[in-house]
Amino acid sequence: MRLKPARFLDGRLRLPGDKSISHRAALIAALADGRTPISNYSTAADCSSTLACLRELGISIERKDDEVVFAGNQKLSAPRRSLDCGNSGSTLRILAGVLAGHDFTAELVGDESLSGRPMRRIIEPLELMGAQIESTDGKAPLKVHGSNRLNPITYRSPVASAQVKSAVLFAGLNAKGRTTVIETSPTRDHTERLFNGFGVPVITNNDLSVTLDGPARFTGGSITIPGDASSAAYFVAAAMLLPESKLTIERVGLNPTRAAFLSVLASWGADISTHDLQTERNEPYGTINVRGGLTGNTNASERTLSRSIIPSLIDELPLLAVVGSQIDGGIQIRDAAELRHKESDRLATTAANLRAMGAEVEEFEDGLAVSGRTQLHGALIDSHGDHRIAMAFSVAALLAEGETEILGHECVAISFPEFFPLLESVSKR
Ligand code: S3P
Repeated sequence: MRLKPARFLDGRLRLPGDKSISHRAALIAALADGRTPISNYSTAADCSSTLACLRELGISIERKDDEVVFAGNQKLSAPRRSLDCGNSGSTLRILAGVLAGHDFTAELVGDESLSGRPMRRIIEPLELMGAQIESTDGKAPLKVHGSNRLNPITYRSPVASAQVKSAVLFAGLNAKGRTTVIETSPTRDHTERLFNGFGVPVITNNDLSVTLDGPARFTGGSITIPGDASSAAYFVAAAMLLPESKLTIERVGLNPTRAAFLSVLASWGADISTHDLQTERNEPYGTINVRGGLTGNTNASERTLSRSIIPSLIDELPLLAVVGSQIDGGIQIRDAAELRHKESDRLATTAANLRAMGAEVEEFEDGLAVSGRTQLHGALIDSHGDHRIAMAFSVAALLAEGETEILGHECVAISFPEFFPLLESVSKR
């Protein structure tokens, strides 16, 4: 895919449903008593992987356009084939938590990237609860031998990961007694919000612990998934960096554990406002307005992203590194070694691609320092099959002098198949 620079962005968008919320809504719907129609279900390939795995587990699902309907009162049964999670870490890790609480054996497999990612983080707590999980050196394929008599546990997760927290909470549905997960830093809380929204109380305490009393079952009901905040981030960043831009994004998720990029970009001088705030099954959403151009100066402390804010920006960090190359004084990212375990090693792939476009970048074990105010130039960008790298560098391409080519651009379909046509529809040249 070849991309040319843009003068500004102009338009009004609505985005497909949030990927993280869609995975969880589908898993809840499969387990629920009562019918659950899900509207604006994510179009991401990852979310289709979740539906395909559930079908393999005997769940019947009707899909028509952006609506997915679960009849309710269904039971998961032993699959005849391996469950193919494709590229989706959320599918594999959270579904492992569901399977841990079911009395049969199932094998979870993934593509090459997913098969290289760490799984001990879920194997450990799920085995403490009484499931048995076979792996190859802590990596997928995983063979989950579940049990419908799991033990409730109190688990202090060594990694700040919503996928780990969610795997334990889904397993806790089939454990008799109180399951508690304690986190080191707050991570996205969609699981907690949706469990409460579908009739299973989850309590969030001040000490970063969440508790659930099992056994528990969901009550079905309809949900419309808010637009994906992480997909919106690419448009917000491009609009802020192209001075004449005027962009509105409607009905987009504004969950504070996901929307931290908005306050970070505002602290770097972006003109961003949010309106029409509403909630859907405890998930906040609303309208984002962005006007191009940077106002005011940022101070050095605002230009370092580290510690507890990292998990709520985790998927936006490659994009924020690109934006950092345009900010006076540049930016630093620290405490983000987790990025090395994503769909690609995102610290390495972000650094290499920024350098290819002329930016000055220092790479640390746990982060990056990006020098600011660089005129980027068009280059050959290797996405490494990582959707977030392909999209972050498509934004960079709009700001660059000359043409940029994104190798492996098709991988955007993992989270956002409509990305390139939508970007083209609001780009003015
Ligand atoms: C996700 C959690 C995050 C995030 C991923 C989706 C989720 O991963 O990077 O894209 O849906 O729970 P970790 O839990 O590994 O941090």
